[in-house]
Amino acid sequence: MRIPDYPSADAEKWSAVDEYFSHLLAPADAGLEAALQANARAGLPAHDVSAPQGKMLALFIRMQQAKRVLEIGTLGGYSTIWMARALPAGGQLISIEAEPRHAEVAVKNIANAGVSDRVEVHVGAALDVLPTLKAPFDLIFIDADKKNNPHYLQWALRLSHTGTVIIADNIVRGGAVADADSADPNVAGVREFLRMVAENPRLDATAIQTTGEKGWDGFAMAVVIAEPPHIS
Ligand code: DHB
Ligand code: MG
Repeated sequence: MRIPDYPSADAEKWSAVDEYFSHLLAPADAGLEAALQANARAGLPAHDVSAPQGKMLALFIRMQQAKRVLEIGTLGGYSTIWMARALPAGGQLISIEAEPRHAEVAVKNIANAGVSDRVEVHVGAALDVLPTLKAPFDLIFIDADKKNNPHYLQWALRLSHTGTVIIADNIVRGGAVADADSADPNVAGVREFLRMVAENPRLDATAIQTTGEKGWDGFAMAVVIAEPPHIS
């Protein structure tokens, strides 16, 4: 069993359900399986999305018929491969990774999974890379250092069009998100991100708690419902 990020008395049951769902609905292919093994061999932190979560991201791409996808935080490319597999012909995924060692593993995993033709990994701090990207993206997945989530949201909005879907991982953090006085900068980053999402009239959003092999966490999801105000 994978060690959950957030321990719980029910961890084994949550994991068993994830395993059941994965086998049934999100079976690993050789590329995904090899990526997890390569990540473990390289000593990358096991913070990849679970298989059912990877499948959820893939389904979002299909539901929306997204052609251009942006991922902030590649890690070893596991979620990248799930999303790349869901892209239509001619689709493109740009993924940003700050840690060169992670990016190197990811690029190999992405090539091994046969999706290099539609994936670009940009190595560098996301706040340096984001200003260099061509807008717009149809779906943006935020899954990097959570303390910068407020900045990533601002960039996601700049790189969006009406209809763009913005998803953020790890917004529950074992329940810590409900603690307004948390000293954890990740919690503070997520809370400020959620506050900004809630008060932005261009966004319609919700947040969903999840349990599973990673423990207790969740996703925020927003859709851009309006163009930015005209500045004259
Ligand atoms: C952490 C980061 C993640 O992106 C994740 O999915 C789980 C945990 C972390 O840094 O603790
Ligand atoms: Mg994550």
